[in-house]
Amino acid sequence: MRDHFEIRDHDAAGRIGRLAVPRAGVTVETPALLPVVNPNVVTIEPSRLREEFGAEMLITNSYIIHSTDRIRDRVLEEGLHEFLGFDGAIMTDSGSFQLAEYGDIDVTTAEILSFQRRIGSDVATPVDVPTPPDVDRERAERELSTTQRALADAEAADTGEMLINAPVQGSTFPDLREQAGRHAADTDLDVFPVGAMVPMMNAYRYADVVEAVMGAKRGLDPDCPVHLFGAGHPMMLALAVAAGCDLFDSAAYALMARDGRYLTVSGTEHLEEMAYFPCSCPVCADHTPAELRDRPDDAERLLAEHNLHVTFEELRRIKAAIRDGRLLELVDRRARGHPAMLDGYRALLDHAERLERTDPVSKDTFFYTSHESARRPEVDRHHDRLSRLAVPGRLLVTESKAPSTHDYDAVWRLKPPFGPFPRALSETYPLTAEVPDRTDAAAQAAAAEGVRRLVEANPDTAVTVGHDDWATAALDRIPDEVDVENLAELGR
Ligand code: GUN
Ligand code: ZN
Repeated sequence: MRDHFEIRDHDAAGRIGRLAVPRAGVTVETPALLPVVNPNVVTIEPSRLREEFGAEMLITNSYIIHSTDRIRDRVLEEGLHEFLGFDGAIMTDSGSFQLAEYGDIDVTTAEILSFQRRIGSDVATPVDVPTPPDVDRERAERELSTTQRALADAEAADTGEMLINAPVQGSTFPDLREQAGRHAADTDLDVFPVGAMVPMMNAYRYADVVEAVMGAKRGLDPDCPVHLFGAGHPMMLALAVAAGCDLFDSAAYALMARDGRYLTVSGTEHLEEMAYFPCSCPVCADHTPAELRDRPDDAERLLAEHNLHVTFEELRRIKAAIRDGRLLELVDRRARGHPAMLDGYRALLDHAERLERTDPVSKDTFFYTSHESARRPEVDRHHDRLSRLAVPGRLLVTESKAPSTHDYDAVWRLKPPFGPFPRALSETYPLTAEVPDRTDAAAQAAAAEGVRRLVEANPDTAVTVGHDDWATAALDRIPDEVDVENLAELGR
């Protein structure tokens, strides 16, 4: 039982929650974005991060502080909050990232946790091993054991009120991620970052990102707050939230700005090549791309501000979408921004059955916005429920809105992508769905699957299907014993 994390709302596997951070005396609403503050190079003052951007929590690197003589003593003396000028919650990383980049660091988990406590961190991190993607299994397992020893050292350490991260590693082996998640959830640690994702995200491998997260989530408990370490590009936040991630950290806003890059919800643009700013944040409202190019001294900071504005804007949009039950429609829109995002969305839908477990039974009208919509969890759930419906001996299921006189025992509606249902259920979620008049083969195939499930559950019923010129691929899914009529050919 983790009483520091409370889930308020769900949509798919996404949730709005509250993470209590006792040492900071604050509660942070999730999904939350933690801007990364480099203690040596402050791009935007932390006080502004809170006041102008709404950041409730930030993340900085205790290892950099520990190994930089110039600031270490000052931070020890003043405390991290005073040093940074930030009175929200502060998470600190441990140097694991440096370990992954340079192969070696000179602190142990016990030492760096003690240091994090002394500088006043609110959420501290042990020295996990971020195993990169695509390594052989033997290495992934060996390094995971090292990470698990670090978690044991963290459990044994005297950490007071600080929350402690329990990173979940396992490289590109979803079953190792699951095992790592289960092990981490069995510790008494508090926050669960899915680690070593940066190389995958830099390579736009969003399907692999989803598989790693879903693997970790299978092992973790539902009430574990999950952090996607190193994720902060606004394009992928909706997808990651829908997969069940609660915390994100963005270094991208500052790193990208340094290279003249401008983030949007559908990708990254180069200031050099832009004629217009498509955004209305304070930076974009007050400047044109040409003006920014003429002010090289200010451009980096202004780009960083824009990058952070769009990222927080997207996070608010995601939270609103969860409240309205429209998160998957938002993910669908984001999936159109880049083919790699579409891969990520398709990978997420491979797990529709898991998404269904936390998906509310009723929400705002389902919109069918792409053929991926046919694979949403609501469709699966409808199919699962078909076997519970009472079915007469002779049943017509038809797309025709006004069936003429007939001699069936009952006439049901047939609505792609859901399939058959009694008219009495027409006004219940998700069957109130808005679907295009011109359905596609994916929606028809999903509806045909519904027919198949209904027939399978009622072998004694004689079912007739009236469809409006469905694709052959969909009709092929309807069992042979069903009578099939094409309404278009019957002129109805
Ligand atoms: N920052 C980005 N990825 C990681 C990770 O896997 N572990 C830690 N500790 N920090 C990270
Ligand atoms: Zn802007």
